Parts: sequence; structure tokens; C-alpha cells
Amino acid sequence: MRPSEIRALLAFRRPRWSPTERRLDRCFTVEDLRRVARRRLPRAVFDYVDGGTEDEVTMRRNRAAFEELELEPRVLRDVSEVDPSVELFGRRIPLPVVLAPTGMTRLTHWEGELAVARAASQVGLPYVLSTMATVSIERVAAASRAPLWFQLYMWRDRGLCRELVARAREAGYEALVLTVDTPVAGARERDFRNGFTIPPSIGLRTLLDGARRPSWWWRFLTSEAIGFDNVRGRAEGSASLAFVATQFDASVTWDDVAWLAGEWGGPFVLKGVMTPADAKQAAALGVGAIVVSNHGGRQLDHVPATIDALPRIADAVGDGTTVLFDSGVRRGVDVAKALASGARAVLVGRAYLYGLGAGGEAGVVKAVRILDGELRRAMSLMGARRVADIVPGHVRRRGEW
Ligand SMILES: Cc1cc2nc3c(=O)[nH]c(=O)nc-3n(C[C@H](O)[C@H](O)[C@H](O)COP(=O)(O)O)c2cc1C
Repeated sequence: MRPSEIRALLAFRRPRWSPTERRLDRCFTVEDLRRVARRRLPRAVFDYVDGGTEDEVTMRRNRAAFEELELEPRVLRDVSEVDPSVELFGRRIPLPVVLAPTGMTRLTHWEGELAVARAASQVGLPYVLSTMATVSIERVAAASRAPLWFQLYMWRDRGLCRELVARAREAGYEALVLTVDTPVAGARERDFRNGFTIPPSIGLRTLLDGARRPSWWWRFLTSEAIGFDNVRGRAEGSASLAFVATQFDASVTWDDVAWLAGEWGGPFVLKGVMTPADAKQAAALGVGAIVVSNHGGRQLDHVPATIDALPRIADAVGDGTTVLFDSGVRRGVDVAKALASGARAVLVGRAYLYGLGAGGEAGVVKAVRILDGELRRAMSLMGARRVADIVPGHVRRRGEW
């Protein structure tokens, strides 16, 4: 057989020289990215990202509840063009997905929040920078053309809160997200068992682990020290997780929400609402959006799965308040189920962190592309051309007719 004849029978794959590209090419789902991240990250870092609080009942239920929901597809609806874009705070984004705030992102990859912000630029999705970020408000803004939102944990030092909010406004952040489900930190028991600390403490186990994940350790040891960059120098001891945890203000009430929304003066989001009563109170205060969230099962264990809590909350707030959703989204069909249950868009946390751990900025882009492809396919197969075509009639609980 001549070479030209072989070429006619076989399409040769373009060789990939970059190990990151090769790794990501083999990932087809968010779960694939999770498996790669697990292999590449030190155990304590992977568990910090992957784990939940106490018995992880809520964390598991977030996933199980998605699986209990079934989709009712409609057929013959001309889905030759599917458009999953939505409008959020007056801006059209290509996908109903926002990259959630996650603290200490430089643990997962040495470029941390910068890599996520650049990936958000590439895909045109909003990224919410955490108070607990390891890259500052200003550096992230300089690295990204994505719509940026800033997430605040209320500190005891209200002067510091005001300062952070002013810096975010100055740097062009478009929305302020106040997280309200964290008056105290949840008990992430995997972290206790792993001796997880910031700065990392070095024991025999850490050293052995280092030998098995040399690329992560090399980057960790040769890049700048990990600290809470937004409060560096401003709060004494800002490099230590133990210290920062004591600075959260557990006395926050609805009065503070009104104060903060006034300080900010732009689109304001309350993240961590789990009941219709609280959602109504938020709506009455005029907040722009709420996030129905149980923090990915990382705060109070035994609260319901968010996808179970969502429909009643969406009904309670009416049209004046945008309803966002997170916790447990790993697939495009999960996004479709959340939209059918009353959300305008979803936030994803671990889904992009697994991508980040698997391949840095390119891994975050890959995670988004996976969700994008899955959502478009799900919409086509459900008979939904646009996001507005996804309606409550598309979902039902298994066994409910
Ligand atoms: C590693 C990690 C760190 C997080 N840090 C924060 C944070 O600093 N602020 C915040 O409001 N939420 C934080 N969250 C919660 C996320 O914003 C989001 O609510 C959650 O990840 C959604 O669940 P999912 O991971 O299943 O998508 C964090 C989540 C993870 C996994």
C-alpha cells in the first residue's frame, strides 16, 4: 500500500506538543477534569476544593437531587440555531454561567485568580473575585476584559469593608456580591484531617506528597508566597487563614445589607439565600439579585439541595429580583434544570477549579467549553432555541406524572 492510499483511509491526528494541551484533550467532561486535578494536586489542596462540611450530606445531595430531576423534551421545534446567551445587569453574556468566587485560588494553580480572570476574558463570562483572593482586586482587573464582580465577606472592621468596596468600584467591577451564609466558617473536616493551613505547614506527609507532585510543588516554591492579597498589609496577620477567619463579622444583619448596598450604589447581589422568606426580604430591600446557594455544601450541613429549594424561592421573589443559582453544577443539563426551575443563570465553583487544577487558564476555558457544548446539545434535544424557551414544564421529579 502506498502512503497516499493510507492517508485516504486514515486521518492523522495533529500532534500536540504541549503536555497541558495533551492532558486537556483527553478530558471530555468536568468529571474528567476532576480526575486529572486529583492526580496533579497535593491531597490537602484537592480536598480543600473538592470537600464539603461535616458529613458532606448536603454536598452529596446537591448532586443526587439533580439526578432525581428528569427532563421532558419537546420535539419538532426547529433547533437548527440554538442561542444560550442571557442578559445579566444589562449586559448580554454568551452563556448563563458565572464563575463563582473561590478563596485561595493560587493553591489550585500558581497563577490562581489571574488565570481564571484571563479565561473569563476568553469566554466572555463574568468572574466574581473573592474577598479571600490570593491576587488583588487591581491586578485581576488589569489582567481581564471580562465583566468582573467583587464578592465581600463582611469584616468586623467596617472601614476595611468600605475600602474594599471603593477599590472594587474604582477598578471597574460591575456588581457587588455579599455572601451571607458564612457568619462563621463551616467545619470542613477533610481540611482538619489533612492539617490544611495558610501558610502551608510542612510535615513529613507534606514532603512525601511533594515527591509525588513535583510540578505543583516546584511552582509553589518558586512563585510569590500565597496570602490574602486584598487585605495584605491592611489587616495584621493577613497571610494567615486562622487570623482571617477570626475577622469575619458574625453580627451582620439586614441593616448592614442596606448600608452596604448604599455604599456600593450599583448592582448588588446577596449570595447564600436558601428560604422563600429571606428571598422576599431581600427583594423588599431592592437587591438586584440573589444567589440560591448552599455554598456547594461547604457551610451548614443538612440544608436541602439548592435545586430542590430553587422553585419555591423563585416563585416567592417575583420578577423584580434576578434569581441566580449555584451548588453542584457539573453538566450542561444541570444548567438547563436550574433555568427550568426558575434561575436566570448559574454560578459554578468546583467545575472551573477542577479545570484550573488540570491545566491552568486553558483548563478553566476547557471547563466552560464543556458546559457550553453540553448545554447547547441539551437545549437542542429539549426543543429550546433560546434560554427563554426553557420553562418549568421541561422538568419534573422522577416518578411524578
Ligand atoms: C474552594 C472553594 C472556595 C470558595 N470560596 C468562596 C469564597 O471565598 N466566597 C464565597 O462567597 N464562596 C466561596 N465558595 C463557594 C462558591 O462561590 C460557590 O457557592 C460553590 O462553589 C458552588 O458550588 P459548586 O462548587 O458545586 O459549583 C468557595 C467554593 C470552593 C469550592
